[in-house]
Amino acid sequence: MPHPTQSGQGLIRKQRYAWRIPGTRGERRHPATVPADGQETVGKVKIAITGVGNCASSLVQGLSYYADKGPEDATGLMHWDLGGYRPQDVQVVAAFDVDLRKVGKDVSEAIFEKPNCTAVFCSQVPKTGVRVRMGRILDGVSEHMAAYPDDRRFIASDQEEASAEEIVAALRESGADVLVNFLPVGSEQATRFYAECALEAGVALVNCIPVFIASDPEFAARFEARGLPVIGDDIKAQLGATITHRMLTDLFRRRGVALERTYQLNTGGNTDFLNMLNRSRLESKKESKTEAVQSVAASRIADENIHVGPSDYVPWQNDNKVCFLRMEGKLFGDVPMNIELRLSVEDSPNSAGVSIDAIRCAKLALDRGLAGAIHAPASYFMKHPPVQTSDDEAFQRTEDFIRGDG
Ligand SMILES: NC(=O)c1ccc[n+]([C@@H]2O[C@H](COP(=O)([O-])OP(=O)(O)OC[C@H]3O[C@@H](n4cnc5c(N)ncnc54)[C@H](O)[C@@H]3O)[C@@H](O)[C@H]2O)c1
Repeated sequence: MPHPTQSGQGLIRKQRYAWRIPGTRGERRHPATVPADGQETVGKVKIAITGVGNCASSLVQGLSYYADKGPEDATGLMHWDLGGYRPQDVQVVAAFDVDLRKVGKDVSEAIFEKPNCTAVFCSQVPKTGVRVRMGRILDGVSEHMAAYPDDRRFIASDQEEASAEEIVAALRESGADVLVNFLPVGSEQATRFYAECALEAGVALVNCIPVFIASDPEFAARFEARGLPVIGDDIKAQLGATITHRMLTDLFRRRGVALERTYQLNTGGNTDFLNMLNRSRLESKKESKTEAVQSVAASRIADENIHVGPSDYVPWQNDNKVCFLRMEGKLFGDVPMNIELRLSVEDSPNSAGVSIDAIRCAKLALDRGLAGAIHAPASYFMKHPPVQTSDDEAFQRTEDFIRGDG
């Protein structure tokens, strides 16, 4: 059985994009090749990662997990072939972290170091030859973590922190196409710092965290002026609390049921949840998660009637996230109804299933000489895109974008 989104049009797509726009990033496009396994590819997508935590672990494991698969036996992906790029065409060429257990290690080892605790679905990740470099700490490590056991928290390395010039040089030397940001929630300064480095180095950005870069018009304009795509902000997991809450909210709207009150409470035991115990880091996360739901409601829900957010840290859950969702509405004749739902997912593979597509879309945008915020994939893959649309529309536009029709 072909993969549901395997259109068999890879060749057509390649012909369509075999040209380049002179003087643009389109010049970076690799020639089409046919590898030993016979599957057509248009080249590699070289990524740099900031924050080698659980999400990075799942993503990097996935690159090996799918390496010896084909469209017939690959499950868990939205796209096998995305514009000619297969999952295994994504290649890590640089990585930055600040934790003493990760800095200096090969990426294939660093992803399994504590405090990472996500499911190991591919234990045999070959050496990448890429060592995790010391980054710049800034506001990446929250002080409250010091009160928790070493195995559960970040421990800053005592290596000298990298300067912006060193990170820019490392990005340039690595040949990275796309920088993928997986820093902890609340890393406002650190995210801006790495985004500036991407701009300077001439690298596209996929911003998986709720610090507003793609959805900040000034930042997006700077990426556009530099001829670089940016896709963000805050990854919308494959089948997580946000997409489920949005779909149900949209269902209420379509079926004429007035949504009056709702909450989404989430618990988990990874460092993401530990980090979010520091409520002062949560402002943008709360905005991102709440607006993702508000934006598909028939009419705006009063602030006191919607509560969406991380709710507690339960260490034994590790990377398992549990979401408790309640929605209260009024049916025909103003008769009340409610729905309660419990969703249990492994948090980080859930994000990797989307970041692998966001990354490939960023590369497609580079190939095509597109710059600034790339709206269609941002609306589909991110909780806080520059433009919110329904998920149906975002899906359709993203498929159009991938085909080159958008
Ligand atoms: N899992 C999901 O479904 C999901 C969804 C949306 C957003 N996110 C966001 O993605 C981000 C990553 O999540 P995660 O679970 O991998 O987090 P994590 O806590 O496992 O990893 C964060 C990593 O960043 C490193 N780090 C801290 N400060 C740094 C700095 N200044 N420079 C470089 N590295 C630094 C830490 O050492 C750690 O390795 C979080 O912001 C999370 O909220 C995740």
